[in-house]
Amino acid sequence: MLLMPDGQGQPTAIHRSDYQPPAWWIDTVELTFDLDPAKTRVLNKMRLRRNPEVAAQALRLDGEELNLSRVLVNGAGTSFKMDGSQLVLENLPEGPEPFDLEIFTTCAPDKNTQLMGLYVSQGTFFTQCEAEGFRRITYFLDRPDVMASYTVTLRADKASYPVLLSNGNLVEQGDLDAGRHFAKWHDPHKKPCYLFALVAGKLVARQQRILSRSGTEHLLEVYVRPGDLGKTEHAMNSLMASVAWDEARFGLPLDLERFMIVATSDFNMGAMENKGLNIFNTKYVLASEATATDTDFANIEAVVGHEYFHNWTGNRITCRDWFQLSLKEGLTVFRDQEFSMDMAGNPSARAVKRIEDVRVLRSAQFPEDAGPMAHPVRPDSYIEINNFYTVTIYEKGAEVVRMMHHLVGRDGFAQGMKLYFARHDGQAVTCDDFAQAIADANPGSALALQLEPFKRWYNQAGTPRVQASGLYDAETHRYTLTLRQSCPATPGQPHKEPFVIPVELGLLNHEGQALALQLEGEQTANGNSRTLVLDGAEQQWTFINVAQAPVPSLLRGFSAPVVLEVDYSDAELLTLLAHDSDAFNRWEAGQRLLLRRALQAITAPDDSQDASILDESLLQALGQVLRDPQLDAAFKELVLTLPSETYIAEQLEVVNPQRIHAVREAMRLQLALALHTDWQATYEAHQASGAYRPDAASAGRRALAGLALTMLCLGAQHGGDSIWPGKTLQRFKDAGNMTDRFNALAALVGCGHALAAPALERFHSWFKDDPLVLDKWFALQAGASDRAGHVLPLVKQLMAHPDFTIKNPNRARSLIFSYCNANPGAFHRADAAGYVFWSERVLELDAINPQVAARLARALDRWKKLAEPWRSSAREAIARVAARPDLSNDVREVITRALA
Ligand code: ARG
Ligand code: ZN
Repeated sequence: MLLMPDGQGQPTAIHRSDYQPPAWWIDTVELTFDLDPAKTRVLNKMRLRRNPEVAAQALRLDGEELNLSRVLVNGAGTSFKMDGSQLVLENLPEGPEPFDLEIFTTCAPDKNTQLMGLYVSQGTFFTQCEAEGFRRITYFLDRPDVMASYTVTLRADKASYPVLLSNGNLVEQGDLDAGRHFAKWHDPHKKPCYLFALVAGKLVARQQRILSRSGTEHLLEVYVRPGDLGKTEHAMNSLMASVAWDEARFGLPLDLERFMIVATSDFNMGAMENKGLNIFNTKYVLASEATATDTDFANIEAVVGHEYFHNWTGNRITCRDWFQLSLKEGLTVFRDQEFSMDMAGNPSARAVKRIEDVRVLRSAQFPEDAGPMAHPVRPDSYIEINNFYTVTIYEKGAEVVRMMHHLVGRDGFAQGMKLYFARHDGQAVTCDDFAQAIADANPGSALALQLEPFKRWYNQAGTPRVQASGLYDAETHRYTLTLRQSCPATPGQPHKEPFVIPVELGLLNHEGQALALQLEGEQTANGNSRTLVLDGAEQQWTFINVAQAPVPSLLRGFSAPVVLEVDYSDAELLTLLAHDSDAFNRWEAGQRLLLRRALQAITAPDDSQDASILDESLLQALGQVLRDPQLDAAFKELVLTLPSETYIAEQLEVVNPQRIHAVREAMRLQLALALHTDWQATYEAHQASGAYRPDAASAGRRALAGLALTMLCLGAQHGGDSIWPGKTLQRFKDAGNMTDRFNALAALVGCGHALAAPALERFHSWFKDDPLVLDKWFALQAGASDRAGHVLPLVKQLMAHPDFTIKNPNRARSLIFSYCNANPGAFHRADAAGYVFWSERVLELDAINPQVAARLARALDRWKKLAEPWRSSAREAIARVAARPDLSNDVREVITRALA
């Protein structure tokens, strides 16, 4: 991961257009590990042959931080040389016959702080090989289009490492001398090396035998540290549900006798889909009602599903090269989103999940797409692939798949998936192959007819803007809708071709009733929700027999990842908020009204009107939502939550983060005070009774009660009913589950009440032995709403807390990222102290773990939008990082782009 100069001192960029098939194939790999934390020996015996379709050339094997001791070809010594970190073999047997290549190396897992390759976490060995970690274990063709059969023998001290796991099936195990033992695993499926995994340590497993639809038996296992077994039930339930769902919805069965999940507390990302041996961050495995929130439970279900679904979309069919990453990630995120929706059940709960997903897209992906790291869903080049595990590849990639799903329909999409597997099972393919399969299975569909222009979603970065305007002719009863699209320039892409944009819409009358939709030229009306496909710069559609001037409900369900600009009147938005049959657009109408008020206040000449940013009609409408017995609690909670500071900032040309923070806080206070009675009634009505269950409906009730409590405490601090902080403390003490307890604590911390400090202390003493709960404790304080700059000194104090360590990624994220990446009001200080703190932490982390450091480095992506003095001080902080000569490629790439 260190800088590889190309002559000018610049790290080397890799280009998609340079792809060449491998000159060599590796058919089988036999790996033998002698596991030792300080010095692990690896014997790698490969069967290789020349790829007859590629001109003969030397074999160049990737390696990183390895000690090479021996290289044998067909059992005999051979000459080799090093070129940078690559091992080059020039005198290999001519001809097409396969031959054996044996490589002996050692590595030092206990020195591996990057957590890529083979590392030790709390005395247990783990691996992380995606994207390019396998080269830190042995010399190899570390690229996803080289797929081999693996047989792996693990040898280790039996007392220290009783459990020895690798991919596939256990074929042999036994004792060795000197207290050692071994286990031999064989994976029946060919795979790229990024899906290799091993685990060795003191672990225990929850086991479950299941029968597939076709009657085959499988063993499911969830491995954790001995004390954590009681927290694995939800992960196991999620895994069983995932297996059943993929079979039922896509006809994709589990193809392994044994499927294992192993949890580790030291992990760079969420989880990893290694064939048959998924390795997870403990955050996405361990849950009990006493220690995990509803959000944790939902995330575990989603991530267990995600990794399991990769077994087909990612493992059975993998990526030809890393530019195609969204082939597996976008598709698999789409699948896990659908899984969560199907698990949530009713249409309202589905809509809630959709709104949550869109919120992530807008508050994280839209800024990425408008900033210096903007890249297409299929990038053209990268310096460090780890920097491209992004919300664009994952979440925007999932939106692209969702649009295909929309354009061909649910059944058509299922047919497309069938064809995709029929054509490509066992192969390493491209995004084109996927889109082609979906289109070919649906001839005549809008996707098939427009496939080439549709694929611009893969090639063009940036968030398209769609402007909508409607014209109603009262005499002819015609309504003409004009849609125009444009897309801002992004780095390296000044001009964009039009996108193919599905726009689902309906028309409402002013009483909120749905109108029948009949386009000019159609004999009869055709439903009251339908999809128009915008594929040019500007297009018009005329609806006929429209009895009254309609209110258009556009982009229902967020049918495309675009910014939709419509000149709605407040009255029209209130109609949509009260009546739209599309729950997403109901929520969206409320958000548009709130955003409009926020932007008016932010751009007002002064803050004298801050106490009355929200007008009576909007407050009334929101109160009505709170009181509506027909609406689900989860939906109410979303409607009553203001747009985030990040999302508000994206709407502005020039950003004053302090003004945004002040306005949003003033709006929250106004909501708290004006709707006091409703909050009180809401809180009382949503007291959970009975046993804790993490299902969507119960979670929604707890979320709404939590918001109510936050509002009641906030009100109490500003002249409202002063009883609430005391009640909240009681709630905190009595709560029967972590969600209610944490929400109460957050309400106290959020309003800055004196009772927050003793509550925090008590929370710490209760949970001091539970790392995942301590992460919440750090994150809550670092993410708190800033009052007179109190958060940064607190964060610095917490850095010195005995429970803090920057080496553990979860802990670093909980304190440092919660402050720098997720608390704009506290981070963007006029005195620049937040930025100084950021630059120091980026450098500190870079020496330990470049991947994690590079994520933190992105906190200032949008610095060019900042007003002064923030802009200049942000630039200075970035330049300070850039000045360091020994940066990792990871951080160097992010910082260079930020300054470009
Ligand atoms: N493929 C994993 C997933 O399911 C992510 C692994 C990313 N690892 C990395 N080092 N960048 O999303
Ligand atoms: Zn994934």
